[in-house]
Amino acid sequence: MRVRSNGHQLRRRESPSLEFGRTSPAFIDSFPFTSPALVWNSFLVQFDTSTAMGTKENGCAGSAQASAQVDKGVDFANYFCTYGYLYHQKEMLSDRLRMDAYFHAVSRNKHHFRGKAVLDVGTGSGILAIWCAQAGARKVYAVEATKMADHARDLVNQNGVQDVVQVFQGSMEDVTLPEKVDVIISEWMGYFLLRESMFDSVICARDRWLKPDGVMYPSHARMWLAPIRSGITDQKMEDLNCAMNDWHSFVDETEAHYGVNMSVLTKAYREEHEKYYLKTSLWCNLDPNQIIGSPAMIKEINCLQATVDEIRTITAQLMLPINADRSRISAYAGWFDVQFKGSEQNPAKDEVELTTGPDADGGTHWGQQVFLVNPPIRVNEGDKVLVSFQMSRAKQYHRLMDIELISELELSSGKRLPPITTRVSIE
Ligand SMILES: C[S@@+](CC[C@H](N)C(=O)[O-])C[C@H]1O[C@@H](n2cnc3c(N)ncnc32)[C@H](O)[C@@H]1O
Repeated sequence: MRVRSNGHQLRRRESPSLEFGRTSPAFIDSFPFTSPALVWNSFLVQFDTSTAMGTKENGCAGSAQASAQVDKGVDFANYFCTYGYLYHQKEMLSDRLRMDAYFHAVSRNKHHFRGKAVLDVGTGSGILAIWCAQAGARKVYAVEATKMADHARDLVNQNGVQDVVQVFQGSMEDVTLPEKVDVIISEWMGYFLLRESMFDSVICARDRWLKPDGVMYPSHARMWLAPIRSGITDQKMEDLNCAMNDWHSFVDETEAHYGVNMSVLTKAYREEHEKYYLKTSLWCNLDPNQIIGSPAMIKEINCLQATVDEIRTITAQLMLPINADRSRISAYAGWFDVQFKGSEQNPAKDEVELTTGPDADGGTHWGQQVFLVNPPIRVNEGDKVLVSFQMSRAKQYHRLMDIELISELELSSGKRLPPITTRVSIE
């Protein structure tokens, strides 16, 4: 079953840390006072790998490597803190597509839960754990890093499943469970699937606590990319030009009034603004008619088998046939879907899919990530774009992503144009 939109208008997921935010309107308005890069760097003063979330001792060496530059306090301040607020949990709980998908996946596949032990990685408000208990689980271990665990306990009690659901407050990587489990359920997906790198914690939990014949909820995940048309690239270019005009006036006035010439800073100021306006991905809920070429799958993840190494860097060679005449690729859009299919030995009775792709009826709080192509590429129906895609974790912080897209247009005549490189961060 594919969960469709019900037209409910949703707010997008806020950043786990408001300071570093995704490019929310509020954040754009406040720029340049809170540049994400500047704030990150100020936090990355201490590198203490011994307190990173995964270690060899707790059996999560992969995630230790992944987060080797971030200590727990830094990670809490930058990532977890926002999840401790009910308003943020409510945003996720109000995403009807997300909720329907998990609810149907559990309630229509009770055979996976009846009499079983379940682990909910990152239980938040406890919603998934409660559904698992209602589906007949014998025991649900609900692990949550933040103080939201207290609220989860209240919800568990109020809904009468306190004998089944046991809430632990702590990092998944540090928690010791009394037994191995039959099912791991988690809502771990960030923007474009892997932002937040929370899947590392799910992999760690799976390797330590899932029985050999256990099942993962969701069982699979896929990442997609498509070329789109939009006026947004021209708009951002105009914004950049306005910002630079303002800077030039500022330099002139500063010299005229205060006798100091600041023009040596012009290059750095421009670079800072180019990064902000053109090289940081945007959150959008696109209309499907903005897509001008067939979407291509970048990656499929089998959640039972995936390793941290496999998802640390994602590369793909894609061929995107263009199906719109006299158009321009002004950006690429990236999104994901997840499936609840059970396992080969123990398949789902009713498969459920949650997709975050462009949907005319509305979307999810994840929306799509938009990567601007500057200047836009003129295309016609019958052309193809060959894209060499790479996504890796940002050097400063493993929960953010850097993307490189090398686009080569092959015209319908067979002629190839020189490659264009686009670099963009998901912040
Ligand atoms: C996207 S929310 C999902 C919350 C809830 N399961 C739901 O579906 O509404 C992810 C939650 O996982 C928690 N989390 C992330 N990584 C974790 C870890 N390593 N250990 C414990 N909790 C974690 C976060 O604090 C957050 O509350």
